[in-house]
Amino acid sequence: MAELRDLLENRRSTRRFDAERDIPSGVLDAVLRAPLAMPHAGNTYDWRAIVLLRRDRDPERWPAIFDALLSQHYVEEAAALVVWTVQPAWWEANYRRNVDELVERGLIDAARHGALLELIAAGPERGFPLVGALAGEAMMGVAAAMLAAIDAGLGATITACRPARLAAALGVPDQAVVLPFGVLAIGHPAAPAGGAPAKPALADVYYAGRWGRRLDPPRGEGS
Ligand SMILES: Cc1cc2nc3c(=O)[nH]c(=O)nc-3n(C[C@H](O)[C@H](O)[C@H](O)COP(=O)(O)O)c2cc1C
Repeated sequence: MAELRDLLENRRSTRRFDAERDIPSGVLDAVLRAPLAMPHAGNTYDWRAIVLLRRDRDPERWPAIFDALLSQHYVEEAAALVVWTVQPAWWEANYRRNVDELVERGLIDAARHGALLELIAAGPERGFPLVGALAGEAMMGVAAAMLAAIDAGLGATITACRPARLAAALGVPDQAVVLPFGVLAIGHPAAPAGGAPAKPALADVYYAGRWGRRLDPPRGEGS
């Protein structure tokens, strides 16, 4: 537990990577597995991610990819980039079957989860922001991969992109949506990630019971 707390408290974005060092395959495997450990709505794993290794970079395709990644230098240095997409139509076509399996296994039942099952049977309401919902879910996986990379001694930075350009550069089909914030750059840090602003205090970002009411810091903050 202390290790997780240390990892969270010391994590910082890395914007200088060692462009000479690759990621050992066992470490990459652990990083790529981490998102699968996260919860998934309706137990439906709709996201797909594209792994780009620096050592396998195609010099002809790279300029378009780099441009779509906003030409940020650390992206060029990173040993691996992972680009997340979500598939809303695929999720909609598959989630009921996956929830049925949860019911069959006794994890969800009508007595305790009636309203949820009704909602699931009815399907997303018109106007439901499914892409946004799935993007949020996929970002949990991005975060898990980031933490797994840092846990393995690497640096990692979540990175913005131009989604339409990146989709075109990577051959992403129409049914998949590249996430505007869903790129993870990982590699060995070339310099300590210092100089970042301090984090907000708990009372800056949480309210107590209703909007705007100050949350008194739980005992232990800052200790
Ligand atoms: C969704 C998201 C997108 C980000 N995009 C970029 C980016 O494109 N380039 C960059 O240098 N940092 C990017 N960052 C890193 C943030 O600037 C950074 O998390 C923030 O300054 C807090 O610093 P820390 O991560 O070192 O704690 C991004 C972070 C998130 C969560």
